Amino acid sequence: MLSAEQNRTLTQVGAGTPMGELLRRYWTPFAGASELDETPIKAVRLFGEDLVAYRDLDGNYGLVDRHCPHRRADLSYGFVEQCGVRCSYHGWLMRHDGAVLEIPFDDLVHPQTNLKDGVRTKAYPVRAAGGLLFTYMGPAPVPEFPMWEALTWTGGFAEVVRSELPCNWLQCQENSIDPVHFEWMHDNWSQRLAGKHDYAGKHIKLGFEELDYGMVYRRMIEGMSEDSELWLNGRMVLFPIGFYLGEQFEWRVPIDDENTLNLCWFYSVPPKDVGPYKQHRVPTWVSPIKDETGRWITSHVINQDFVAWIGQGTIADRTREYLAASDRGVTMLRRQYFEEIKRKEAGDDPKWVIRDPGAARCIKLPIVGRTMGSGELTLDEWRDHPYLKIRFTDHRHCAGQPAWVRAEYNAAMGF
Ligand code: FES
Ligand SMILES: [Fe+2]
Repeated sequence: MLSAEQNRTLTQVGAGTPMGELLRRYWTPFAGASELDETPIKAVRLFGEDLVAYRDLDGNYGLVDRHCPHRRADLSYGFVEQCGVRCSYHGWLMRHDGAVLEIPFDDLVHPQTNLKDGVRTKAYPVRAAGGLLFTYMGPAPVPEFPMWEALTWTGGFAEVVRSELPCNWLQCQENSIDPVHFEWMHDNWSQRLAGKHDYAGKHIKLGFEELDYGMVYRRMIEGMSEDSELWLNGRMVLFPIGFYLGEQFEWRVPIDDENTLNLCWFYSVPPKDVGPYKQHRVPTWVSPIKDETGRWITSHVINQDFVAWIGQGTIADRTREYLAASDRGVTMLRRQYFEEIKRKEAGDDPKWVIRDPGAARCIKLPIVGRTMGSGELTLDEWRDHPYLKIRFTDHRHCAGQPAWVRAEYNAAMGF
């Protein structure tokens, strides 16, 4: 349980709030790079700030104030130039570092006054990696970009999946350190949804441990041995908003206090008798959250999670919860946030902000699930595998994979 004040502290993401400022100290993924392929400008709301992301004709990515510095027109209706984005109202041209490059009428009639030297627009740096776009919205100096090893893999099929949820980010991220929900929400509930009445193996022991870049949870399920990967390595919460599961990342990206972008990255290595795949572009697709009757979709693992998170309320009221033994990780995670807010307010870098370029270049994380679909199995073995066989017909985690993505996936995997 938290006080109302503590709950506000952890959930508010706007500029100037304790948590909003803490989260801004880390590189944050906010889109799939391929979202800018068809239309190179996209409105983005992040941490309560209205921005536009774009890719100009030189290939520079920008993330700038959605409103033009001239008279505030909407730059998501602007157009890109060789370098920068131009407002469609009076043609001001802005570059990815916030400089104003052209003010067409002034440049013509008062070339000597250089009004543009005195104007800047808000701009945040953008990095592309693994088919995702990341930004840093905190104060200078910009920390090193943490290149997670998985984002450098080649030979497989990567895809980015996004869903926007009408609830606060923290209740989504608390789920990343909550192993017991898997037994109920994904195993037992899925059984009932399929009209079956079995119960999955029970969790009998949990382990939580802080590691570099976050925390792992480990689970022991009845019948499982102590040398099982899930007990030895577990799953990893990436501080502050990520979750890492081997061939899968999930990030709970705050849009504002009441909305969250769940941004997933999935990677599949083709069966060994199919061989490596050369991917030219990582597709991005939107996974829907409601069915045609207006109910939340419950058919896929991550959609089931959404039902829980959204159901907790727009901003979960943590003054009215009863924490239990399964919530030890949740308590540890909240404590980490409070500690890192304090560390930042004392003027230090919060934990795992990287300043050493060597340390950031390729970061290996504990990998559980690398053997699930990882080039070790033949096509026939996939077909018989309890978790992998579903991939012949459907996406395992998210509802609504479009046919064109499925076709690319099938081609990559030799299905
Ligand atoms: S409002 Fe953008 S150029 Fe005038
Ligand atoms: Fe889940």
